[in-house]
Amino acid sequence: MTKTAGKGPDHVAIIMDGNGRWAQARGKARLFGHHAGARRVKEIVRACPGLGVKYLTIFAFSTENWKRTQSEVAGLMSLFRRYIQREAQELLAEGVRVRFIGDRIRLDDKLVQMMDELELLTSNNDKVHLTVALNYGGRDEVARATRRLAHDVKAGKLDPKNVDEETLPKYLDTYVLPDPDLVIRTSGEARISNFLLWQSAYSEYEFIDTLWPDFTKRIFAEIVENFAGRERRFGAVLT
Ligand code: FPP
Repeated sequence: MTKTAGKGPDHVAIIMDGNGRWAQARGKARLFGHHAGARRVKEIVRACPGLGVKYLTIFAFSTENWKRTQSEVAGLMSLFRRYIQREAQELLAEGVRVRFIGDRIRLDDKLVQMMDELELLTSNNDKVHLTVALNYGGRDEVARATRRLAHDVKAGKLDPKNVDEETLPKYLDTYVLPDPDLVIRTSGEARISNFLLWQSAYSEYEFIDTLWPDFTKRIFAEIVENFAGRERRFGAVLT
């Protein structure tokens, strides 16, 4: 069994929460907080290589976020488009490979096209793997995976006897990614809110009070370094 004490996390996943409260505390509209949050995304992505973080997965929009007001949803979608447009060249130059997970069916065509293009543009990069969860829900992901798996069974490509813990994750959106070692949630809520349900079975969790727009690379570095001091047992007793 692997003992990882002393080693930093390869894969960090983040639930970026608190943008709305951050803006409201300043008497501003919630979108103001999302824009500040997007600037932090840039800072945290850039900090990854120096901290030895190879994979960063961020929760940008959940399957439940459609319940927000129409203007907030539209503002977030426009923010995602702008982010892709503005950051694409820099992400490419900095060696970041970008992937998106989640169900694209409900996203508008223009945004989906931009997501596809950014994935293709950065597909030869390998320095940092940034995965953006957009219209993502863990249960929805497992349901979609099961649907695809059922199709393969029906088509005779997969024997139900061979469906096990190794097979199912191959159908998840994250099939090319390792499981996250560490999941961070900002803004004081201690919930996982349907994020990476299958993948985070053995992840360490860090819930911190800081609101996402206040989450600096320094705080990130402290959490990552603190992880290195932890011992992960994966259910086993270490000898
Ligand atoms: C949660 O804060 C945040 C979101 C639902 C959106 C996350 C989006 C960003 C950080 C913007 C940029 C992302 C990318 C990939 C460019 P909240 O609105 O739930 O805050 P609250 O709990 O205080 O209301």
